[in-house]
Amino acid sequence: MEPHYSPAKPKAEGKIVPRPGHSSSGKLDGDMTQGNPYNATLIEREDINEALAIFKVRFDSDEAPDFEPGQFTTLGLIDPDAPPPNPNSPARRKGTRLIRRAYSIASSPGIKSHLAFYVVHVDDGKFTHLLWKLKPGDPIFMDHKIKGTFTLDGIPDGMDLVMVGTGTGMGPFWSMLNTYRNTGKWRRLVLLDGCRYIQDLGYYDQLTKIADEDGSVIYLPTVTREPGDAPWTGQRGRVHGILEPEQFNKLTGVTLDPKRCHVLLCGSPQMIDQASENLHKLGFVTQDRDRPDGNIHFERYW
Ligand SMILES: Cc1cc2nc3c(=O)[nH]c(=O)nc-3n(C[C@H](O)[C@H](O)[C@H](O)COP(=O)(O)OP(=O)(O)OC[C@H]3O[C@@H](n4cnc5c(N)ncnc54)[C@H](O)[C@@H]3O)c2cc1C
Ligand SMILES: NC(=O)c1ccc[n+]([C@@H]2O[C@H](COP(=O)([O-])OP(=O)(O)OC[C@H]3O[C@@H](n4cnc5c(N)ncnc54)[C@H](OP(=O)(O)O)[C@@H]3O)[C@@H](O)[C@H]2O)c1
Repeated sequence: MEPHYSPAKPKAEGKIVPRPGHSSSGKLDGDMTQGNPYNATLIEREDINEALAIFKVRFDSDEAPDFEPGQFTTLGLIDPDAPPPNPNSPARRKGTRLIRRAYSIASSPGIKSHLAFYVVHVDDGKFTHLLWKLKPGDPIFMDHKIKGTFTLDGIPDGMDLVMVGTGTGMGPFWSMLNTYRNTGKWRRLVLLDGCRYIQDLGYYDQLTKIADEDGSVIYLPTVTREPGDAPWTGQRGRVHGILEPEQFNKLTGVTLDPKRCHVLLCGSPQMIDQASENLHKLGFVTQDRDRPDGNIHFERYW
């Protein structure tokens, strides 16, 4: 498999020039009064396969805002099938024709020229269907508000971190890895990457290379639908199998010990529920308002 993505420096850097009709204040969500909600531009897309891509989006009048790796923002595109907003309705300011979806930021906060998003095309998906039609240079809405608490904030330095992603759930982990690598944030970092097919392991080459070079990083991809005769000698099956304590220890050399370990789960809600249930049996606790010191952290994509 040959994912096309390279983590090399972003190609399209440089001056941010507002397009005509766009605010230079940098904070407007497009020009709603003109019915134009777009405030950003797709500057690059890297197609890993026909249904998986990395989209790089730049604000037209602003650099990328500060954020913590693991956070998300919203992208929006006009729904061509929706009726135009009624100019007399207060709802028009909210951009009723705009379809918005949340996306984890896959780039690092140090990159100010754009934000990157790792996205899968969902069959019959309303937003991703529109997104897939875009080419570099096309306008898009990107929210300035960065949201989310799925970050490494509050996790003490020097723990063992286990990051479990299904599909595009690896996006925020890619941001965390690139941001915190060599900072002492973790003792060991185990990345479990669960995908249907080998060609869906979008960061495979880069993660394999990083794990080869950095003894603190262990990368363990697993595929679920690859035919038995495929040229794949790695793990098969859903990520739960790997989270079984003995198997986990055998494959990674790390013990799933709630005293030394924090687990981050991202992607399929069913995976998150099942993995959490298994981890609770080992003494892990899901972090929430009542248990801020919990050692299971998650981001559900739907
Ligand atoms: C906080 C947050 C962060 C997110 N970050 C990402 C991201 O970084 N990358 C990304 O691809 N998606 C991400 N999503 C999902 C994204 O918001 C959309 O739901 C998704 O792109 C589908 O939109 P759609 O309109 O095409 O499909 P819809 O018509 O909204 O269909 C939704 C259905 O598609 C499936 N689905 C949605 N997202 C995924 C996914 N990522 N992988 C597999 N199946 C999925 C589910 O069955 C879901 O019920 C995130 C969601 C949340 C809440
Ligand atoms: N991936 C593609 O090649 C492709 C191509 C065209 C369209 N799409 C679209 O993309 C969407 C799916 O994208 P995706 O493959 O990235 O995501 P996904 O369906 O979430 O699958 C990603 C991985 O998560 C696994 N998984 C699912 N439920 C799980 C659970 N409860 N516990 C543990 N692991 C679990 C899947 O295993 P299982 O295989 O066992 O479910 C798979 O290995 C589909 O809606 C489809 O419309 C994908």
